[in-house]
Amino acid sequence: MKVIISADHAGMTIRNEVKNLLEEMNIEFEDTGCTCETSVDYPDYALPAAERVASGEFDAGILICGTGIGMSIAANKVKGIRCALVHDVYSAKLTRQHNDSNMIAMGERVIGPGLAREIAKVWLETAFDGGRHANRIGKISKYETEH
Ligand code: RB5
Repeated sequence: MKVIISADHAGMTIRNEVKNLLEEMNIEFEDTGCTCETSVDYPDYALPAAERVASGEFDAGILICGTGIGMSIAANKVKGIRCALVHDVYSAKLTRQHNDSNMIAMGERVIGPGLAREIAKVWLETAFDGGRHANRIGKISKYETEH
């Protein structure tokens, strides 16, 4: 598995925590910023990361900003991306099982690094259930293709 991780200036602590987790899990990853010496614009980080997941270069992507909301809104503009805004472990599990999410976004002004690590771990370890859920994902993909 290859994971891309990206954060704006408001997500540095969680980004570092998740990078530690990825190293511990022996998961290959690329950190695409930011250097965060100044304030940056989250779409400049979410959109390129989402495109690299959508292209198949990466299997999964993790985005962090202040609330996670801006990152998730931007990532979900990219065709093929299902980015879930997640701030609890239950949703992290269910969004893999039911939504086959290929990205998650978290907000560092909402949760702490310990919970973010648990969320990322569960999300990375949980498989898609398929079945009736695949039908539903198919409807989203069909809409994307037709519009
Ligand atoms: C930056 O101040 C903040 O707006 C950003 O990190 C994010 O929370 C946007 O959704």
